[in-house]
Amino acid sequence: MNKPLAHTPPMGWNSWNTFGWNINEELIKTAADAFVETGLKDAGYEYIVIDDCWSEKQRDENGRLVPDKNKFPNGIKPVADYIHSKGLKFGIYSCAGTHTCAGHPGSFEHEFDDAETFAEWGVDYLKYDYCYKPKSADGENLYKRMAMALRNCGRDIVFSACNWGNDGVLNWIRESGAQLFRSIGDIQDNWLSIQGIVESQLTHEAYSGVYCHNDMDMLVVGMHGKGDNAEVLGKVVGGCTDTEYKTHFALWALKNSPLMIGCDVRKMSPETKEILTNADIIALNQDIECRGPYCIRQWNNPEKVFALVKPLCGGDYAIGMFNFSDKTSEMSLQFFDIGLPTSSGRGLELYDCHKHETIGTFTERYAAQIPSHDCFVFRAKVVKK
Ligand code: GAL
Repeated sequence: MNKPLAHTPPMGWNSWNTFGWNINEELIKTAADAFVETGLKDAGYEYIVIDDCWSEKQRDENGRLVPDKNKFPNGIKPVADYIHSKGLKFGIYSCAGTHTCAGHPGSFEHEFDDAETFAEWGVDYLKYDYCYKPKSADGENLYKRMAMALRNCGRDIVFSACNWGNDGVLNWIRESGAQLFRSIGDIQDNWLSIQGIVESQLTHEAYSGVYCHNDMDMLVVGMHGKGDNAEVLGKVVGGCTDTEYKTHFALWALKNSPLMIGCDVRKMSPETKEILTNADIIALNQDIECRGPYCIRQWNNPEKVFALVKPLCGGDYAIGMFNFSDKTSEMSLQFFDIGLPTSSGRGLELYDCHKHETIGTFTERYAAQIPSHDCFVFRAKVVKK
């Protein structure tokens, strides 16, 4: 108890993107098994989080939340115990309003009791949504309430606020005590959604940092259109190419977003697994200083082609070069723009985080042709030339 939580962005898996309301004990346990078997755990993923639709529609006679008797016939505690037995952590979901988005009981006016219930069950992480907030209630105050309840429930529970960037959340979330905050509406499993989220968050770096991270929503890497919508509509909807998923992952990593996987981790393709377990990319996300990146746009294509540059602990820099346009485009990063004039007599040694090798030492600038929706990500070292 009383150790700071979520120094770096949390990493894990959340049931919502792929399974929606279609969740149960077996699914959650087998997701935990997959974490261990596929190497996700070794790569640093830790939290297994159940999203909306895990409870009965009514509280019990004592006002306590009741796990859905069909989905979780043994209750929640054995699920948490199982996840803990695998050396992982367990997360659950509730809502600041009277009801969750799917109409289950929310924690409004039950904050302290619910926090206590979660602690009894062995919960380590709470995602806290914003549906059905009474119009007269102040959202900022409701997040402060649940933060206080969690901080005093007798167990370390990471508080993941999810009010989709509303009501000026950037201005008050850090001091509320939350460890992460959703800054935008729900991600969709398509390239336009990914691109839109990134564009909306490029100017928000000052608000994210150690112990309180800007959550750009769960990853869609590896979903290939097989989300909960696919089940509703009986067909695959949307999806991205593996190149787009690779770029999506690199963007979330460089932006210091929590890395919460949203695909079915029990059925990952080799490509999906390679993207999600890329240790060189994950290391940039988990850098201990948690400094967000600044953006440098390509002068002749500023809307679509840009670099993200992020100082890392110890002197290295993370550099991502991205092409959002529909054709191969050049990005030339002038080192002058990131603080390295040619007159310094120094250059950058670039280690490619996808090829996992050093590609050379460059002075003055590095220019590359980036295929459509692709990226290059480097760990750069300042060296004397
Ligand atoms: C939304 C939230 C999603 C998911 C969903 C569950 O408000 O943004 O991530 O939790 O509710 O109903």
